[in-house]
Amino acid sequence: MKLFIDSADPKEIARLAETGLVDGVTTNPTLAAKNGQDYVETLEEICRTIKGAVSAEVLATETAGMISEGRRFARIAKNIAIKVPMTWDGMKACRALRSEGLMVNVTLCFSAVQAMVAAKAGATFISPFIGRLDDAGQDGLTLIREIRAIYDNFDFKTEILAASIRSVPHVRDSAIAGADVATIPPDIFQKMISHPLTDKGLAAFLADAKKAGVRIRDE
Ligand code: G3P
Repeated sequence: MKLFIDSADPKEIARLAETGLVDGVTTNPTLAAKNGQDYVETLEEICRTIKGAVSAEVLATETAGMISEGRRFARIAKNIAIKVPMTWDGMKACRALRSEGLMVNVTLCFSAVQAMVAAKAGATFISPFIGRLDDAGQDGLTLIREIRAIYDNFDFKTEILAASIRSVPHVRDSAIAGADVATIPPDIFQKMISHPLTDKGLAAFLADAKKAGVRIRDE
């Protein structure tokens, strides 16, 4: 499974990328607003660190505007994926941008049929928002399973990008359900690596080694 960071904070992204585990990044207007810096400059900075797909979301709501914003983003770097919303205009923009050889991430997906339509429009990624579905009293992971089944039935190549992740179990369950990618907020990415029993076990190993004077000698 590919691990993306869901953030528009270039410094935080660079820090997490030091692990060598970051396969890409997703941003959106809310995350860009939180960062406060110019959106294009932010994306340029992120693309200097991250070589995998970096999603940049359009603000236009009509096809022509989405296409021109998408082309603007695409000039930033080769690894930009243009994020368009799951709307009528978004589908037309998706097809047009894909025909120019650009990557497209279709965002704000809340149903399996929407995901099927996005795949037919040639989307590179589909972003089902699992946390927001859970918040609305539905089951986000069921949506991932449904999309996986449909994509496998028809051999659609669109990658399922589990978005709106709220917890470490969300990452685990998305992987089990067959998502190709999870886009993960920085705090959850951090938590994925730690476990209290790992810390406790390590402290015990080091204490035992110290007590007995165990050393690793240089040759
Ligand atoms: O980037 C899209 C998505 O991950 C947003 O998540 O937490 O705002 O529902 P959230």
